[in-house]
Amino acid sequence: MDYLEIIGGGKLSGNVKISGAKNSALPVIAATILSDKPLTLTNLPNVVDIRTLLKLLTMLGGKVEHNDTVAVVDNGTINSTKAVYEIVSQMRASILVLGPLLARFKVCEVSLPGGCAIGQRPIDMHLKALESMGAIIEIKGGYVRAEAPNGLHGAKIVFDKITVGGTENVLMAAALANGTTTIVNAAREPEIVQLCDMLSSAGVVITGTGTGEITIEGTNGVPLTFPETKIIPDRIEAGTYLCAGAISHSTITLDEVDANHLKAVIDKLEVMGCSFDIEPNSITIHGPEKLKPVHIITTEYPGFPTDMQAQFMAIAAIADGESIIEERLFENRFMHVSELNRLGSDIWLKGSLAAVHGVEKLYGADVMATDLRASSALVLGALVAEGTTNVRRIYHLDRGYDNLEGKLSKLGANITRKKG
Ligand code: UD1
Repeated sequence: MDYLEIIGGGKLSGNVKISGAKNSALPVIAATILSDKPLTLTNLPNVVDIRTLLKLLTMLGGKVEHNDTVAVVDNGTINSTKAVYEIVSQMRASILVLGPLLARFKVCEVSLPGGCAIGQRPIDMHLKALESMGAIIEIKGGYVRAEAPNGLHGAKIVFDKITVGGTENVLMAAALANGTTTIVNAAREPEIVQLCDMLSSAGVVITGTGTGEITIEGTNGVPLTFPETKIIPDRIEAGTYLCAGAISHSTITLDEVDANHLKAVIDKLEVMGCSFDIEPNSITIHGPEKLKPVHIITTEYPGFPTDMQAQFMAIAAIADGESIIEERLFENRFMHVSELNRLGSDIWLKGSLAAVHGVEKLYGADVMATDLRASSALVLGALVAEGTTNVRRIYHLDRGYDNLEGKLSKLGANITRKKG
């Protein structure tokens, strides 16, 4: 199994190109099911999760030509509406095909995603919303079976809690529904905005994009025709490289990035003593010699993203003082703490709170990745740890970071992918 060997200590310098956003590409790929015509997607990140979802489309009968960052998808040939366990168990976001499959084909089966390393992650809000749009849903044999023999109809959906995936599933279902759907307490992430923009580009009338209340006029079953769609920059990948600059006291420049999506992250890095030069498509970070501690509460966009919590814990580990980090979105998203502590950090956990007492130095060790973002926190720690760190189980990293070791090597890090 592949692992990363990282020899810590050096500074980073130079430029890194940010890839397309995995979490935007996934709903965009799912949304292609709403069309029966070929369409081109560009700036896809070259990561396993994207290949997994494209594979699911081919298993449904769609045609996919995929070459690293570009895919031509033709879902005019779909002849199955069953998303099997083999794929969904590899990637929970496969649940995003539920809304579009049901909307276009009026019946589908999608394997129920199980638990996951960061929490239970139920899909009850997705299902309740689709039911209020006319779906009849049954859970049997580990599958969600949904049907809407007369098609879906518009409805007013009020989410009890903000859900990114739930908002995306409803947006896609509503696009082909009969009538108007309003989503109250909708997610406002840039990935949601991209999905709304994509649907709008196909002629779906949407108001309230980027706000907590979105209204969608459905086409009453008429499939959509999309123009070429370019995936937005990955704000979580970008945030991770900003943390790499911060933790290694370096100056690095991120290219092809949107700073508007990173306000909460940049704000906290400024609190920690980093400074920035921000251009329309690039961000340069200057990491200070000594980082200051920080207080963070994860919350929905535009607040501080849970997907950056682990990386900030890594940089707080060597800050000058005590940082407090509160995880509000997922109940079990501190799996990286015990691994960071193997590198010598001093982190104390109680429930959803972590107190990070900054230490002078981290020291290389063997560590194990537990989920996608936890893995990148270990890589960040390893960049400055004295000696050699081996980060194992990096299949988690490969799910969501495009060429992490190549990009970090180009910035001057001593990082090598090895087998063993
Ligand atoms: C998406 C992101 C993930 C990010 C998360 C929160 C993708 C592919 N993944 O995940 O990287 O960490 O947003 O920003 O975009 N919940 C329920 N019932 C539901 C749905 C969600 O209780 O039906 C809960 C979840 O367990 C969680 C919270 O709501 O506690 C937010 O989850 P949600 O926004 O749905 O996350 P995902 O879409 O799964």
